Amino acid sequence: MAPPVRPRVFVTRKLPGEALGRLGRQVELRVWEDELPPPREVLLEEARGVDGLITLLTDRVDEPLLAAAPSLRAVSNVAVGYDNIDVGACSARGIAVGNTPGVLTETTADFAFALLMGLARRVVEADAYVRAGRWRTWSPTLLLGAELHGATLGLVGLGKIGAAMARRAHGFGMRVLYFSRHARPALEAELGLRRVDKATLLAESDFLSLHVPLTPETRHWLGRAELAAMKPGAMLVNTARGTVVDQDALVEALSRGHLGGAALDVTEPEPLPMDSPLLKLPNVLLAPHIASASHVTRGRMASMAVDNLLAALEGRRPPHCVNPELFK
Ligand code: GLV
Repeated sequence: MAPPVRPRVFVTRKLPGEALGRLGRQVELRVWEDELPPPREVLLEEARGVDGLITLLTDRVDEPLLAAAPSLRAVSNVAVGYDNIDVGACSARGIAVGNTPGVLTETTADFAFALLMGLARRVVEADAYVRAGRWRTWSPTLLLGAELHGATLGLVGLGKIGAAMARRAHGFGMRVLYFSRHARPALEAELGLRRVDKATLLAESDFLSLHVPLTPETRHWLGRAELAAMKPGAMLVNTARGTVVDQDALVEALSRGHLGGAALDVTEPEPLPMDSPLLKLPNVLLAPHIASASHVTRGRMASMAVDNLLAALEGRRPPHCVNPELFK
């Protein structure tokens, strides 16, 4: 008897941990080995013959790709966000889409809080100052920063990561406000959070941290008018998506000194070009989209992506499915 035909899968990058080894024992696997993403034409070509794709945020899964991939049944994104994927187009073709929520919540909030602290207390500037040989004496006015305890943190979005950020801020003695479509009364009671409207959030927050997915509604959520409505000297932390902020308006607000600073793990575009004005601003702390980047978490994300893909290829609903209506 001929051996059963194994599904064909293309993975757009090497992933940490044991997940790809496990996948390779069950499917015909091809992995793009480069550090940089596969060029678009390579992705289209690879997608042509496969049943499943494991993708990253850098891989655009859109109608032209789906049209080139007639046997595709599952797309599994190694990320909680999936703004790189046209989910509607996938659903219309019966293609299941998976993502990796939950496993990266605490890790991402850790990093968002690290950015908050690093920005407020000028940690990166301090390091550069010492390395440059500029440290001549203890000084009462050297590298003065902002305090976190007693300050107000405004959260845009109170999903899993926003809530994890709220817990950290509560532990640091901050007052926490949030703006969200959904009230979270249990969290409000537990952590003393207050749900406010956009205007109040912007006017009262000393620090604003973004925790919303990128959707048509959140695109440029923090625009010129919103930046102008922020408290003078307030600081922004963004670990969500660069496009949630109007970056040109942000550069203006920072350059004018209306905002005290910004810590950005995400930008538009990514990577940030070396001539970006953000790179010239001393009150900006930048990171290359690494909020979930711990050894453990990236291994768990890879494993979850493989579980999602294998389930979909077997006709089961992936444990973490973005279009579960396909399995009703
Ligand atoms: C990273 O940005 C993710 O969505 O997991």
